[in-house]
Amino acid sequence: MNRTSVLRLALSALALLTGCVTTAGSGEPEPHFSSLYADYLSNCRQCHAPGAVGATNTTEKSLDFSTQATAYASLSGNASGLSGNQQSCNSVPFLTKGNPGTSLVLAVLDAPTRSAFDLTTTPGCDTNAISDMTIKVGKAPSAAFITALKTWIQNGAAND
Ligand code: HEC
Repeated sequence: MNRTSVLRLALSALALLTGCVTTAGSGEPEPHFSSLYADYLSNCRQCHAPGAVGATNTTEKSLDFSTQATAYASLSGNASGLSGNQQSCNSVPFLTKGNPGTSLVLAVLDAPTRSAFDLTTTPGCDTNAISDMTIKVGKAPSAAFITALKTWIQNGAAND
């Protein structure tokens, strides 16, 4: 084996090693807010953030996905500023800790949750009034992300 092939071997071993490290670091989303934000929810800031380029008159007004901290804080509030077809979802909470089925943030990302959405206080906020935000993002979340988001809400939706 000459020096070039030894070097090549060393380099491919290094590539393999770093490959493993990278995979471990950016693995499947976990039911923790930091992981959910890094994996998918950070995409929402294209529109839901002060001065966002994608924001329009009709964009929901209170969500702010600028950072993990603002995202978590604003998710503890209620929908506001919705107009037209979506206005019956105004005042609906984004999150119901412990209950994924009544959490608007899950309903905008998961079709089965959207279809079953049924709040006695705001019956008009149903599948026709809840928009599919995966279309707005332009990229669907992974099944693992949806599972992790459900588990996180079920576990009490901590800022973890
Ligand atoms: C391209 C811009 C855009 C992106 C990206 C976007 N949204 Fe929205 N969002 C809107 C607009 C506009 C509305 C108002 C409803 C409508 O027009 O469909 C809205 C409404 C909402 C609502 C209110 C629900 C309802 O009744 O429709 C929630 C909750 C929401 N967005 C969450 C999110 C989340 C979570 C993400 C990221 C996964 C996201 N949005 C990404 C533009 C966007």
